Amino acid sequence: MSTPVLESVAIEPFLEKEHELFFHTYSRLPVELERGEGVYLYDKQGKRYLDMIAGIGVNALGYGNKRVEAAITEQVRKYIHTSNLFVPEMQIKLAERLLSLTGLSKVFFANSGAEAIEGAMKLSRKWGSKIAADKTEILSLTNGFHGRTYGALSLTAKPKYHEGYYPLLPDTGYITFNDVEDLERKVSGKTCAVVLEFVQGEGGICPVSQVFATRLKALSEEYNFLIVADEVQAGCGRTGRFFSYMHFVSTGIAPDLVCAAKPLGGGLPLAAIIGGDRVAEVFTKGVHGTTFGGNPVACAAGLALIDELLEKDLMTHAEKVGGALRAAFETLKQKHIQIRSVRQHGLMLGISVSRDAGYYAERALQHGVIINATSVNVIRLLPPLIITESEAMESVRVLDLIFSNEWRE
Ligand SMILES: Cc1ncc(COP(=O)(O)O)c(C=O)c1O
Repeated sequence: MSTPVLESVAIEPFLEKEHELFFHTYSRLPVELERGEGVYLYDKQGKRYLDMIAGIGVNALGYGNKRVEAAITEQVRKYIHTSNLFVPEMQIKLAERLLSLTGLSKVFFANSGAEAIEGAMKLSRKWGSKIAADKTEILSLTNGFHGRTYGALSLTAKPKYHEGYYPLLPDTGYITFNDVEDLERKVSGKTCAVVLEFVQGEGGICPVSQVFATRLKALSEEYNFLIVADEVQAGCGRTGRFFSYMHFVSTGIAPDLVCAAKPLGGGLPLAAIIGGDRVAEVFTKGVHGTTFGGNPVACAAGLALIDELLEKDLMTHAEKVGGALRAAFETLKQKHIQIRSVRQHGLMLGISVSRDAGYYAERALQHGVIINATSVNVIRLLPPLIITESEAMESVRVLDLIFSNEWRE
């Protein structure tokens, strides 16, 4: 049965079906997809869309990457799933790769970003419980996003995501983003972990300041708490380094735990908690687990993704194309007063605008460019890391046109 909203607006039949069949959690785009190729998606009518959001940061290699497809096919032919009663070869290979890229010492595979955060929270509390019974507090930063499960949601300081879900997890709290004084006020001997995105994604592509990172590192030593890097969105090469915390080495900060997901499974659901020596022995037999985590097909795809990233030097490429995009949007900023600021880290871009960014996302889609609105007035771009400079410039041209036409509407 259609709702009054549906009756008043002409709506595609597939969206009507969606409304009928699913809980109404998502705002879906009015595009009936047929296939993807490279950085483009095609709808059933053959219209081409430049995908500047890449499955919300998942499709780092775009669509139809041959190496990923071959790895998936090869593993599917051997076995799809075994559970963690066994040690799939692909889990070993991917874990070795992640440890060599980070210099950390242990991996736990999960399925989604929120599940990795959840596991990191459990690990942090178990680690804290060995030091003091009340070392249970887990803090995060305002403006961040960590996921929708109860633990991850409790660390996500956005009241709109909390409404109706109270009570949240006890002994969690927020430090004001980049506020060193608030950081000093909030952490204590009770703190077992601070969870943070070094470059906030949903929050509008905002990096923590070097000063904040330096102080966090010092306080983690003073009060003995863990630093957990949420690299779900900024990780796996997107910012030009394999993980975004790697841009902060000069501050001396080194996370004890890193949570990765999104692109990690080459488009299949896969997440990882990667931990250093300090926490290597915290998880013991039976204290944590998952049926699907570390699925062999997803690990094979993830391995192919990392091989491709490294062999094609896509992180350097991301910095180069990201830099060119930033320069182009800075030039647009001179021309259009609607653009307030441009933030960029590799191929993670946030363009602050003077109105609801959804307005631009809607119009860009009509012009065949998929962009995304986050933090209300930030246009977020997370294109595939394989995007060429000329492909990326298509998004600049389209936004230029939309900003110019805005006054005529
Ligand atoms: C930084 C960050 N952490 C955690 C999550 C949650 O990941 P998932 O949606 O896979 O549960 C997200 C999702 O957007 C994210 O951006």
